[in-house]
Amino acid sequence: MTDIAFLGLGEMGSALARAAVGAGFPCTIWNRSRDKAAPLENQAWIADSPAEAIAGADLVVMCLFDAASVLDVLEPVGPLLQGKALINVTTTSPDGARELSRWAQGHGARYLDGGIMAVPAMIGTPATSVLYSGSEAVFDEHRKLLESWGRAEYFGDDPGMASLYDLALLAGMYVMFAGFFHGAAMVGAAGVPAAEFAQRATPWLQAMATAFGDYATVIDSGEYGRPGQQSLEFSDLTDILDASRSQGVRTELIDAVQKMIHRQIDAGHGKDGFARVIESVRA
Ligand SMILES: NC(=O)c1ccc[n+]([C@@H]2O[C@H](COP(=O)([O-])OP(=O)(O)OC[C@H]3O[C@@H](n4cnc5c(N)ncnc54)[C@H](OP(=O)(O)O)[C@@H]3O)[C@@H](O)[C@H]2O)c1
Repeated sequence: MTDIAFLGLGEMGSALARAAVGAGFPCTIWNRSRDKAAPLENQAWIADSPAEAIAGADLVVMCLFDAASVLDVLEPVGPLLQGKALINVTTTSPDGARELSRWAQGHGARYLDGGIMAVPAMIGTPATSVLYSGSEAVFDEHRKLLESWGRAEYFGDDPGMASLYDLALLAGMYVMFAGFFHGAAMVGAAGVPAAEFAQRATPWLQAMATAFGDYATVIDSGEYGRPGQQSLEFSDLTDILDASRSQGVRTELIDAVQKMIHRQIDAGHGKDGFARVIESVRA
């Protein structure tokens, strides 16, 4: 089986390394603070430096804090990467992933970027999905390792694509959470505990998420005037804004959505469907 060097044993790196040793891969592990390697000392070799970890490995897996920390660690050992595969699952920007890929290829390494759609406790369970792009050969050759972490999906040879997808999904997640916080603040001002609101919000938002497919059909066809849709005029958020203010709740979040709706109404599209809001997002 492939000899793997794991660089970075924070919360996520440790979960990935645990899954790899659990699947039987021989692993050498390194972390800047050595104590984080200790829990795996009976299942993996602990290296004293990145150079020592990389030396005997066919594949290097990086899970550090950010793109800058990846370069901090790799730059001094660039020549050792010649002929090896590098999988970087550190969260980076799309351009950061492309830059790392160019840098790795400049040292004769093949680069695969990964975006982890999970928290550490989910690694190795079917609930985990990891998005990859970059070297398809690395993706294919190391499929067994990737599947020890969760579902592995390949998004093409542009190394920035996995990161772009990852960040697009996180954009949806953060705005959804902010919407939940807004609603919880509204009813919270009337004495409703957030836990009680969560019991209503969870099934409501789950049910609403099933509309993504219909919105996507409209967006992809560009037929915003298609009959049967909720119109932009009907989607005016004035009542939500007024109720928020009277509850003493700040309205920045809802203001932003209202502004996007009204940009389209003001441009004469008020009878079109709500999905036209995407035209307010596009620059
Ligand atoms: N945790 C999650 O839920 C989650 C989910 C998806 C993706 N991710 C991504 O996974 C990556 C790791 O996250 P994590 O949760 O494992 O973070 P973490 O627990 O904070 O670990 C960060 C790791 O980076 C190392 N590091 C930071 N700066 C360094 C430097 N300049 N040189 C060498 N090592 C450095 C740390 O070493 P020390 O131990 O020495 O500080 C540690 O091993 C991040 O990019 C994160 O966005 C995490």
